[in-house]
Amino acid sequence: MKNILIDINIILDYYEKNRRERYPESIKAFDYLKNKEFAFIASSAINNIEFLLYDSLSLKYPQLTRKNKLQIIHKCIEEILSFFKISKTPSYVEIDYENIEDSLIVASAKAIDGLVLTRDEKLLRKYPDKTISPEEFLKTYTSNNFETQKVEMLDLTRETFYMYSDIEKNIDEVIKKSNFILSDEVKQLEEKIASYIGTKYAVGVSSGTDALVLSLRALAIQRKKQEYWDKEDLIITTPFTFTATGDAILRSGATPLFVDIDLDTYNINPELVEKAVKKYGKKVKGIVPVHLYGQPCNMDEIVRIAKEYDLFVVEDCAQSFGAKWDNKQTGSFGDAGCFSFFPSKNLGGFGDGGMITTNDENLYEILLMLRKHGGKNKYNVDHIGYNARLDTLQAAVLLAKMKYINEFTERRRKIAEIYNENLKDINWLKTPYTHPKAYHVFHQYTIRVLERNRNVVQQELKEKRVDSMVYYPVPLHKMKVFKKKWDGSIWGIKRK
Ligand SMILES: Cc1ncc(COP(=O)(O)O)c(C=O)c1O
Repeated sequence: MKNILIDINIILDYYEKNRRERYPESIKAFDYLKNKEFAFIASSAINNIEFLLYDSLSLKYPQLTRKNKLQIIHKCIEEILSFFKISKTPSYVEIDYENIEDSLIVASAKAIDGLVLTRDEKLLRKYPDKTISPEEFLKTYTSNNFETQKVEMLDLTRETFYMYSDIEKNIDEVIKKSNFILSDEVKQLEEKIASYIGTKYAVGVSSGTDALVLSLRALAIQRKKQEYWDKEDLIITTPFTFTATGDAILRSGATPLFVDIDLDTYNINPELVEKAVKKYGKKVKGIVPVHLYGQPCNMDEIVRIAKEYDLFVVEDCAQSFGAKWDNKQTGSFGDAGCFSFFPSKNLGGFGDGGMITTNDENLYEILLMLRKHGGKNKYNVDHIGYNARLDTLQAAVLLAKMKYINEFTERRRKIAEIYNENLKDINWLKTPYTHPKAYHVFHQYTIRVLERNRNVVQQELKEKRVDSMVYYPVPLHKMKVFKKKWDGSIWGIKRK
């Protein structure tokens, strides 16, 4: 089955009252296609739809003010965008000299390897292998043997095309200026994120991993007055995280001291952190809490322990953009907050990227040096540095996406609520628990399979075309890199 690109005439049939009665097949096809993974509209069609709806409203309802008309139209467009994915009309198309609109719609369908669903007789005749009529569509696509919709782990095209115009504008601006390294866009994003998170400073870097490495290195320079931590220096973290958290600790010279998690939130257990600090004493230099799946750790306790024992805190916020603990953003509690803009993250770029937030001016100065070869002057440097800058193009994309972050976070939370409600009576699985002080942003919606075999459950989901993944199949303390190098001696405190 091919993807379907819905032509403007079908959209107008759906939204214009008198056409609804005249073209019931269009309405049926439109209704069937709502929220289907294979249903698209062309980006070039959106302005046309707005224009034609405006025209038709003006004709039929001359009493409506411009403001009223625009309100109605924007509601329709919003709805269309929530139903269908957008196929970006390519900038380079083969021109149909008889009808430019036909060339655009056919090129947009070609870009998604799809068929144009249209009532336009001429178009149907001219491009028989690239078009399909509503009648034909209903016959073939709605038959019983047609597969049900697939639920993907992640559908980035849908997200990207939702905000395509903003992204495209920002990218075009970068191309025009061609200032690709640490440009205005990077500065603007740093300011925007510092203000969003509520810190004085933010430093754009090349990935979430680099955000962690640079922060830990900067703290060694600040606190220990040396380039790296020593192997005997212990940094407490959770073993239930992505590799990068533990790896960054090793790369900063220190040894990770793994402390077990809380079985409700899956985040590091503060009681066990304190036990580990007491057990290992002055060797412990800091804590790296990870706000896993988008739920903040108990920052009241972590900050208290850090103050009491003079430890630094570097928050791993790779999965928690926008999450709050007690109404305060993650990334604003510790000495540094480390964010990832990996494409799948809640705020994701078009490649790798990251950000460090901090309130500490001295740490900020060191971080600026480390991300740019190690000095204020890169031709005469003070420290062992990195080439770890955030690309201007990534910053431009992220600035466009920032506009939508609150809307998307709210959507994630609503969807999580729907899942919670519908899964709550299944006794063999555990739905996510959210701490009352936490504003969870559901980077992942993670369930625990309790009494059944997880692989079987995954297989059953697969048969129903629902994707799932295991986050994480191997905890860090069982990974070769940590075991081999440190001989398992890094287990702080295990749950009983
Ligand atoms: C918890 C955690 N820490 C660190 C990272 C590393 O971020 P990045 O992939 O941007 O290097 C990730 C994500 O990939 C992560 O999920």
